[in-house]
Amino acid sequence: MQDPSSAKSRRATAYLMESEEEAIRLDVKTDRDAVRRQALWCGVGPGLRVLDAGCGAGITTSILADVVVPGGGVLGVDYSPQRIDYAAAHYGGERGVAFALHDLREPLTRFGTFDLIWVRFVLEYHRSAAGAIVRNLLECLKPGGRLCLLDLDYNCLTHHELPEATMDALQKIMRAVDERFDFDTFIGRKLYSLLYDAGLEDIRVELAAHNLFYGPMKESDKFNLMKKIEIAGSAVNDVIEACYPGGYARFYEDFVRHLDDPRRFTYTPLLMTSGRKPASG
Ligand SMILES: C[S@@+](CC[C@H](N)C(=O)[O-])C[C@H]1O[C@@H](n2cnc3c(N)ncnc32)[C@H](O)[C@@H]1O
Repeated sequence: MQDPSSAKSRRATAYLMESEEEAIRLDVKTDRDAVRRQALWCGVGPGLRVLDAGCGAGITTSILADVVVPGGGVLGVDYSPQRIDYAAAHYGGERGVAFALHDLREPLTRFGTFDLIWVRFVLEYHRSAAGAIVRNLLECLKPGGRLCLLDLDYNCLTHHELPEATMDALQKIMRAVDERFDFDTFIGRKLYSLLYDAGLEDIRVELAAHNLFYGPMKESDKFNLMKKIEIAGSAVNDVIEACYPGGYARFYEDFVRHLDDPRRFTYTPLLMTSGRKPASG
């Protein structure tokens, strides 16, 4: 379990999920088939030059590259040196794959232009900067190219059947996380408007289920959910201590019991959106 006392120092950093194991968490939890299906829905296809914005461990960059080669390529960018080192070490040798360190809040024009830009599970970390990031990305999208935003709605809030006190605490935790880390628990429902406000055309939207779990849970899925609770929970430890009988340790214990119960039903709504940059834009 993460030491809650480290939460205050982490608050100064921008990324809520920062931890030494973050690249591994992202690598282990990524479902290759699901990402491939999402990529095909977004219009990723052979020959395209794609930007994987906020690429994390690089596994999504590798999956996208599988689709665009031969002829195309994928550049994965992330602002974490740790994630970029991991990505380069694990996926950097693959055909059509490249990585670069970059903060999406800064202009990306040094990378040239792209046919398609893919942004999955990144805008949720930037409630106030999401619009500015979209504008940055549009600058390096070719006219006629597609900007694809994929993110969750009701993040961490759809677990049946958590005890009432645990569910109440979870809602308070996510409210505190949103306020303190500029996170957005409800970014999924905002993606369409972000594309609309940016002047994109032919906007398409699809709703799917992410993390749909019932019955016994795979170890890799449990690891991911526990990491989320550990890190988000310890980041707002004071909120849990104030509202939960037994405090953080008891909350963690109750949540693990819920995950271990094969009767439990858990899912998160995933919004996939895609819009085309006007040919004259
Ligand atoms: C939850 S992970 C998602 C990784 C990958 N896109 C996926 O779908 O699995 C979010 C990643 O976005 C990166 N990130 C967040 N804000 C960023 C920013 N402003 N610029 C670049 N990368 C950012 C984080 O470092 C992290 O690796």
